[in-house]
Amino acid sequence: MILLALALALQAATGQAAAMDRPIVIAHRGASGYRPEHTLAAYELAIDQGADVIEPDLVPTKDGALVARHENEIGETTDVAKHAEFAARRTTKTIDGREVTGWFTEDFTLAELKTLRAKERLPQLRSSNTRYDGRYEIPTFAEVIALAKRRRVGIYPETKHPTYFAAIGLGTDAPLVAALKQAGWDRADAPVFLQSFEVKNLQALKGMTKVRLIQLLDAGGAPADGAAPSYAAMATTAGLKEIARYAWGIGPAKAMIRDGDAAPSTLVADAHAAGLKVHPWTFRAENVFQPPSLRTGSEPGRHGRVEEEIARHLALGVDGFFTDFPLEGARARDRFRPR
Ligand code: G3P
Ligand code: CA
Repeated sequence: MILLALALALQAATGQAAAMDRPIVIAHRGASGYRPEHTLAAYELAIDQGADVIEPDLVPTKDGALVARHENEIGETTDVAKHAEFAARRTTKTIDGREVTGWFTEDFTLAELKTLRAKERLPQLRSSNTRYDGRYEIPTFAEVIALAKRRRVGIYPETKHPTYFAAIGLGTDAPLVAALKQAGWDRADAPVFLQSFEVKNLQALKGMTKVRLIQLLDAGGAPADGAAPSYAAMATTAGLKEIARYAWGIGPAKAMIRDGDAAPSTLVADAHAAGLKVHPWTFRAENVFQPPSLRTGSEPGRHGRVEEEIARHLALGVDGFFTDFPLEGARARDRFRPR
């Protein structure tokens, strides 16, 4: 009893979230299968459902605040189009070589963004989530950290478009680290994982913070900062060795480990051999995201057997995984028994 009390007191003092000695359930954009993504409601529900870690993707406002959005264009996930006062801010920009039209976080102050409300990104697939449209604000990173600390879970922030934002004078790495310091979470043992699809900002972050760094890898293409010829090259034995110089782990697209029903690759074993942990993304319940053998019927939005899909990856040795469905994710993780 005394030992338990001591352990709890230590946990409270350090702010350390749940032990991570088993595969971790990372709530991708919160419980985004059940609520509009990147809202405090989505993160809260994810924690209720058993997530170990909540994932905010981060972009800056005009006045330098970090907010949780998957991209800086906010027309798809907020009601900004209904706000006549912001109609003139609709514009076209080139982000990482791609033309994008809409409204951008960097053109809004935090106070202005706070007048918007989130909406479901995938209304065709997730129609029951549209009942929450218009209810929730865009959260700041500080609010996400506060929630995580209060509920004793970890965070897994992703820097979105770091080179683009640095080029327009709104670099996100320094404010991100400042927020971690402010929270007392700039420590090697903090329940924090910093991720990026780019390489150079992660390498820079290595010199700025002690927390775990995760190199994201996609099934195609190359990092937007031009630091490597392709993600495929980064996933080779030599590439993984390079990553291990600055990162604690990799976050590969799940297809890089097992593409649908195809035979698995050797990526998990290769990464482990390089000393890297492996957290694949993204496990989603709907048929359209499932391997053919795990679909239920043919309707795209009907749920397939995502827990089995997760179990397949756990059997390949992954150390955690991103999911829009933390309830199913935690269940799959808890039921899994290694052979
Ligand atoms: O960060 C892991 C996973 O979230 C990467 O994909 O596009 O959902 O940020 P994305
Ligand atoms: Ca992400």
